[in-house]
Amino acid sequence: MKVLVVGSGAREHALVWKCVQSDLVERVYCAPGNGGTGGMARNVPIGAADVVRLVDFAKRERLGLVVLGPEAAVEAGAGDALRHAGFPVFGPDRGAGRIESSKAFAKDLMKRAGIPTADYDVFTQPAPAKQWARDREGQVAVKADGLARGKGVIVCSTIEESDKAIDAMLVEQRFGRSGATIVLEEKLEGPELSVLGVTDGTDVIALAPARDFKRALDGDRGANTGGMGAYSPPKGVDDALVKEVLDQVMLPALGAMRSSGSEFRGVLYAGLMLTKNGFRAIEFNARFGDPEAQVVLPRLQSDFVALALAAAQGSLAHHPDLKWSDQACVGVVVASGNYPDDAAMKLGQRISGLAEMPRGVLIFHAATRFEPGIGLVSDGGRVVTSVGLGDTVAQARRTALLGARQVRFDGAFFRSDIAEEAV
Ligand code: AMP
Ligand code: GLY
Repeated sequence: MKVLVVGSGAREHALVWKCVQSDLVERVYCAPGNGGTGGMARNVPIGAADVVRLVDFAKRERLGLVVLGPEAAVEAGAGDALRHAGFPVFGPDRGAGRIESSKAFAKDLMKRAGIPTADYDVFTQPAPAKQWARDREGQVAVKADGLARGKGVIVCSTIEESDKAIDAMLVEQRFGRSGATIVLEEKLEGPELSVLGVTDGTDVIALAPARDFKRALDGDRGANTGGMGAYSPPKGVDDALVKEVLDQVMLPALGAMRSSGSEFRGVLYAGLMLTKNGFRAIEFNARFGDPEAQVVLPRLQSDFVALALAAAQGSLAHHPDLKWSDQACVGVVVASGNYPDDAAMKLGQRISGLAEMPRGVLIFHAATRFEPGIGLVSDGGRVVTSVGLGDTVAQARRTALLGARQVRFDGAFFRSDIAEEAV
């Protein structure tokens, strides 16, 4: 069968890498792909949100499966159009994708379904929003309602900070339309946990849990990013906790989606905080996490294409249990200088060192491209994820860090404390 992975990040490179390993697969395409996917699949120059051309391509190549990587593809309606044209799609329709693309929608769904989550309210006017934050002494998270590539959340500790964050979104419109409606949430404390479930809308199979590190700098300092690294399995998370998340978060969410008429197929991602009063869901994503995919997929020993196809076709109930490696996996993102400040990043830097990776390092490309006459250059904020597997987290981490150090370009930086808590 021919499989198309839609997207161009390190998550999509990991998906391509996993699809290529499947016995069911004759050829893998990636649209538009990056400098890494081009080496193991055929890159197709179609943007992730270019729905019309994606459908044309699917027809021309008679694709057996389409895997939607990024939220942009979901939001553009690629799932609806491809499914309508008769193709099995691993990824939700646009309507079901609202669980990610509107935080207000997601919070209301959580409330309706009785899912444990932070106290919140939704605002379009600065004055009442500021009052809500003031009542909580500024201890709030201010969130743009719409998609903001992981950067639309400002966690505040003082009234000054919450005033400023509310103004940035509602008055200065720094997040454009995404921030015209905002969600304010009580601030929670505790480690984070990502639980990803593969679902056909009714049944759900949990993938191995992971922990993502969202701040740009060591010690959880700096701005929120799309994710600077991840590891699996995370410290303090056992099967029983994952089962509780399935029962109390995933299944109720899927039930609420079904009863509102939008069935969810693909990966439902629950972002949680483990507070001292128990876990709280803080967000849903309608796709694999990035960099979670890069540390979860290498641990999966079962055929991913068979799993994705079963979810796409609604037959997960009969799917065999997944097999997982006992090894730990750590991923460290190497980013462009000044990431996540898009305006200040210096792109187009020549990348070296990738050909001399130490044994065992997996490099998943994100923002890389081939520049004729120069070679591989950086092309965005998160440039590659360096991944290590190991019998212990410590070993996996050493390998991932060796790889990250070896990736060289002007301005490159990475966090050196990913998974350190588990060592
Ligand atoms: P979200 O996009 O909603 O997952 O938020 C991005 C990041 O902001 C999360 O991974 C947390 O690190 C942080 N965050 C979100 N909501 C809260 C909250 N209520 N309290 C504290 N931190 C939060
Ligand atoms: N790593 C968080 C996300 O993919 O949204």
